[in-house]
Amino acid sequence: MTLESVPSKVRRGRLELANPTGPGAGEPSRLSRAFSFGIRAIARAKILGKSPVGFYLRLNGALWPRAPRFLSASRPALAYLHLMHRLARLGPDRRMSFGTFFLRNRPQLQLICRLAEGRARAGVVRLAVLGCSIGAEVYSIRWSIASTHPDLRVDMHALDISEEILEVARQGVYRDDTRVVETPIFERLTEDELDSMFDKDGSRFEVKPWLKEGIHWRVADASDPRVVDALGLQDVVVANDFLCHMQPAEAEACLRKVARLVDAGGYLVVSGVDVDVRTKVAIDLGWKPIRDSLEEIHDGDPVLRWGWPWGYWSLEPLDKARPDWQVRYASVFQLGVTK
Ligand SMILES: C[S@@+](CC[C@H](N)C(=O)[O-])C[C@H]1O[C@@H](n2cnc3c(N)ncnc32)[C@H](O)[C@@H]1O
Repeated sequence: MTLESVPSKVRRGRLELANPTGPGAGEPSRLSRAFSFGIRAIARAKILGKSPVGFYLRLNGALWPRAPRFLSASRPALAYLHLMHRLARLGPDRRMSFGTFFLRNRPQLQLICRLAEGRARAGVVRLAVLGCSIGAEVYSIRWSIASTHPDLRVDMHALDISEEILEVARQGVYRDDTRVVETPIFERLTEDELDSMFDKDGSRFEVKPWLKEGIHWRVADASDPRVVDALGLQDVVVANDFLCHMQPAEAEACLRKVARLVDAGGYLVVSGVDVDVRTKVAIDLGWKPIRDSLEEIHDGDPVLRWGWPWGYWSLEPLDKARPDWQVRYASVFQLGVTK
């Protein structure tokens, strides 16, 4: 099976109104409810079957990068861009993607290695990757831990809701001449890293046998409560870049379930998620944000930042003027500890 033939099984329906779930948000006022209603109505409007908002966003997306810096970096401009992002999140249908990269977010990978080492018992750490797509993230974590802590053994689980995509992950065979899963998966690797991770034959790249060993692959829905019984509690759970493609209510419910996989004192890594949703759940459940490399990790996956504000999946710039910025912009949390 080629990657291009993988059917996009996982499609999500229309987006519902995002909850005004910012930290400290109490009951929304009548004015803010009316505003939200208005924004939603505008975002969903169609003229002759086409969305004028979609057109407006595309036009803005083309023109905005040409705006002079003093204008685009001003506070009013930022407020306008936040409004655009809100429209983007409301407007188009969200669609699940398989997009991924090897060594996607280096500062985040480095932090995972440090936390994994700190959580190890008798030289073993339990680590699960949810929504693993074609396996690039799984092999990247495995390779990074082996490179930084060669004596650490990883008891690793990887799961995805798509059987076809998981089979590709399990085989660990890729080609450099295709933009597989619509993202150039090798673009963040140096030549040395490619040599160290893969056996190469022409345009065919196969993950080295030692990197594939001992990974438990599983087809499952991350929000299925039975996943906890199947995998057992974990020291580190990585749930990156799939929640942003869900409707906010669905993403929130899924995130709460995913958190049950983390053993007390363990870590949850969750980026590529609506920041309002993540902040709400983190505050509700008393997660401790990890400050280590927070800013580097925030900007560590260029695609997410470059896409802002036009992509519903994109990530807003880190704003330290917000009183809640540490919890809002952390993507790594310790669970089950008092702060
Ligand atoms: C955009 S890819 C992210 C890949 C990788 N985590 C990364 O960050 O590069 C999203 C993956 O999540 C999977 N997925 C979506 N919903 C899921 C769910 N409820 N449970 C498990 N996997 C899911 C999709 O099939 C897809 O392969």
